[in-house]
Amino acid sequence: MVKRLARYIGEYKRETILTPVMMLGEVAMEVVVPLLMASMIDNGIELGNMGTVVSTGLMLIVCVLISLTFGILGARFGSKAAAGFSRNLTKGMYYNVQTFSFNNIDKFSTSSLVTRMTTDVNNVQMAFMMIIRVAARGPAMLIFATIMSFSVNPDIAVVFLIAIPILGGGLYFIIRKAHPIFERVFKTYDKLNNVVQENLRGIRVVKSFNREAHEEEKMGAISNTIYKDFVKAEKIVAFNTPLMQTSIYTCIILVSWIGGRMIVGGSMTTGQLMSMISYAGQILMSLMMLSFVLVMITIARASAERIDEVLSEKTDIQNPPHPIMTVKDGSIDFDHVNFSYKKTASKLCLNDINLHIPSGSTVGIIGGTGSAKSTLVQLVPRLYDPTVGSVKVGGLDTREYDIEALREAVAMVLQKNVLFSGTVKENLRWGNESATDEEIREVCKLAQADGFVSEMPEGYDTYIEQGGTNVSGGQKQRLCIARALLKKPKILILDDSTSAVDTKTDALIRQAFAEKIPDTTKLIIAQRISSVQEADMIIVMDDGKISTVGKHDELMKKSAIYREVYESQMKGGEEDGQN
Ligand SMILES: Nc1ncnc2c1ncn2[C@@H]1O[C@H](COP(=O)(O)OP(=O)(O)O)[C@@H](O)[C@H]1O
Ligand SMILES: [Mg+2]
Repeated sequence: MVKRLARYIGEYKRETILTPVMMLGEVAMEVVVPLLMASMIDNGIELGNMGTVVSTGLMLIVCVLISLTFGILGARFGSKAAAGFSRNLTKGMYYNVQTFSFNNIDKFSTSSLVTRMTTDVNNVQMAFMMIIRVAARGPAMLIFATIMSFSVNPDIAVVFLIAIPILGGGLYFIIRKAHPIFERVFKTYDKLNNVVQENLRGIRVVKSFNREAHEEEKMGAISNTIYKDFVKAEKIVAFNTPLMQTSIYTCIILVSWIGGRMIVGGSMTTGQLMSMISYAGQILMSLMMLSFVLVMITIARASAERIDEVLSEKTDIQNPPHPIMTVKDGSIDFDHVNFSYKKTASKLCLNDINLHIPSGSTVGIIGGTGSAKSTLVQLVPRLYDPTVGSVKVGGLDTREYDIEALREAVAMVLQKNVLFSGTVKENLRWGNESATDEEIREVCKLAQADGFVSEMPEGYDTYIEQGGTNVSGGQKQRLCIARALLKKPKILILDDSTSAVDTKTDALIRQAFAEKIPDTTKLIIAQRISSVQEADMIIVMDDGKISTVGKHDELMKKSAIYREVYESQMKGGEEDGQN
């Protein structure tokens, strides 16, 4: 995983390598400082030799300046490398998500993808900066300071050798305890984001059902879990500081005590004792830094794993090696098609579907909710691949086409359709970027949208809010149909796309289709019999199977399901379906 993520360092390799190099330079200078201090005290001050005091003093200043420069450069390179790395990770994930098939998308919830692209990337960025800055600095300082202290006075340095393993062991114990809690915290973060997103997106529903209190409770419970877990983890991590402090002060007391006796005995100088105490401080520092890095890595490891999951997810719908770029006509064939969303599912979602739909025909699809109408039509633009059997468009298996070419030829208005924030015009141009204003007007007339769009304050330049909240359900549906028409598709699929449009307008749309785009194959999923009554062919779906196929009159005789639906809809007179 580390190797895969490391690829995303990309153009920031130079900074990534330079940072630890700078840090090493800084450490080297810092370690020399106590030595110079010792020499200044012993050879200068104690002997009253002002010349030595001044010259060592100057050397000290130079050392500190060099160390400072290295430190600043290291910090700059480090933050640049980390920021670049995190940008590359986000970009990588975003691009990969764009290649996802519907099947891949089903695996990750939107909120989890959002957390992964923001919080998780942030964690990794912080940890990465820590690692390149401190991971080299900490151990180097620890080793240098220990060696130097041995060179000054090996007898006293033994004290450090005893203290370091005790501290290291304590640290290891703390980290092992904290890691699982941090891991749990991030899983809960996903849940929190999920609740927040769902609530904000559905805030109108929440309000109309008076569910605010319930939603608040849900949110409160989850944030409380996070709070508790974090406190728990931090409590464990907080042991770090007292552990460090105790051992290091013990070290200093020991060093001073032994050193003091040695000075009295004449086997050690005051300067040397000073430098030993400084080294004790440096060893403390480096251990603190290391423990901090370890905590960061603990947090970031969970995040890195989640990022890696998104980056390494491979789209399961790919172009064939020699894709066919043009779709001949709008004919559709289903040949013994079975389909299920999950490979492990025990029940098939679509069961042995066989169909031949000639190019240019109008096909109605009727059936109860959950009878797999949407699933059936989603196989045509290859949003999913059939589990068994084949789906053909224009006489060729959909898997032989270039995916983009296929989806250009097959326009689909999804049941859960969306408009994006932007003007009406911009939204429609999703269907065809180079469409002229006349073309846009033309398709809107076909979809019976021209009327209400023209009446909007700024016509086609009216701004549509995110999620299309400032247009009604029926208007949104008509805009979505217009957007699909702008592609000039060979096959047009409407998945329950006129459910919120009144019957009269619905009829006008169908009439326009029949007159203006007679060569386009039209698949119309509908709840209302009136929407499909005049179709060349009506498919009645029942529980993942095709129950019957035929024209209206035949179905009235042959299909009990169809007759039932028809009668229930006729009973209340001409229902107007306005909602
Ligand atoms: N993305 C999905 N992942 C898993 N199961 C799904 C998915 N979409 C639909 N289903 C299931 O497939 C069945 C058919 O759904 P669908 O084709 O949407 O029916 P319809 O459009 O006729 O209402 C349902 O049982 C539904 O729960
Ligand atoms: Mg559906």
